[in-house]
Amino acid sequence: MDVGNYSLVSQFIFEPLSDVHTIKIILFLLVLTSYLFSIMGNIFIIIASLTNPALQSPMYFFLRNLSFLEIGYTSTIIPKMLSNFLSEDLSISFIGCATQMYFFGSLGIAECCLLAAMAYDRYVAICHPLHYSVIMNRTICLQISAVCWLSGVLVVLVPASLIFTLPFCGPNKIRHFFCDLPPLLRLACADIYKNEVIIYTVTVIFIMLPFFLILVSYIRILHAVLKMSSNTSRSKAFSTCSSHITVVTLFYGSAVLTYLRPTSANSQGTDKVLSFFYTVVCPMLNPLIYSLRNKEMKDSLKMMVRKILFRK
Ligand SMILES: *[C@@H]1O[C@H](CO)[C@@H](O)[C@H](O)[C@H]1NC(C)=O
Repeated sequence: MDVGNYSLVSQFIFEPLSDVHTIKIILFLLVLTSYLFSIMGNIFIIIASLTNPALQSPMYFFLRNLSFLEIGYTSTIIPKMLSNFLSEDLSISFIGCATQMYFFGSLGIAECCLLAAMAYDRYVAICHPLHYSVIMNRTICLQISAVCWLSGVLVVLVPASLIFTLPFCGPNKIRHFFCDLPPLLRLACADIYKNEVIIYTVTVIFIMLPFFLILVSYIRILHAVLKMSSNTSRSKAFSTCSSHITVVTLFYGSAVLTYLRPTSANSQGTDKVLSFFYTVVCPMLNPLIYSLRNKEMKDSLKMMVRKILFRK
């Protein structure tokens, strides 16, 4: 690509979230606490779903996979973000930025896909209870989750390679706290229109396709639930979905608002708040949402705490 006599940038600089030292320290402690909390919560879900015999259904297989994914997803963003609060040097190398964007993007897409798989699992459980164990057998669950991971890893190759072959000739200040697509696109010094169209088409398809699957699953679930005659079976069916609905709403709400607006319309303040939400807050809330509403999870937690405290 012809970039004339510009010199290309070799690194990017993050814009500090605040210039005030006290605010930086407060943010650092806040983010560190939520990071540790989310890592511990997600590790708890992984251990609980592996060890508790009552948690051996496909629903917990997918939940475990989601927790595993979220540990990776937060760990691509938060450690760098934490060091930026304390350090004077806010730079990230070109390769570092590309790597961060790639991992964040592929794990994000895999997360959308896993959320769809979990909705499908609820749909089969509620609408086809008699065939549930046949349809959602172990092999199928493994295959579905493998497809999710693979699609994340492959799909993001397209936007990532498109964006990192663009020339960046400065300014190199990223007005964000990690290397995300919209703020990076804004820094390219080329006509980005064609790339923008391709990138947005790819992301829209792979964010929206799982979303439609989730929507269709829940429309069918709602239909089935409304037809149930007894109130107890109705509320039981609903209670197994409520955690998932909450998680989907939080994650998709913030992701759709961030990515499905045109770059020019993005206000950077709102962007940061939304991104903060799905990178820091959501991964912390998921284990909480699933644990608080679920008796087996609570029992596992009690058991684990007892084991740690009394070492038996
Ligand atoms: C998540 O799914 C993938 C693909 O099936 C699998 O390789 C991985 O071990 C799973 N992770 C957990 C923690 O279950």
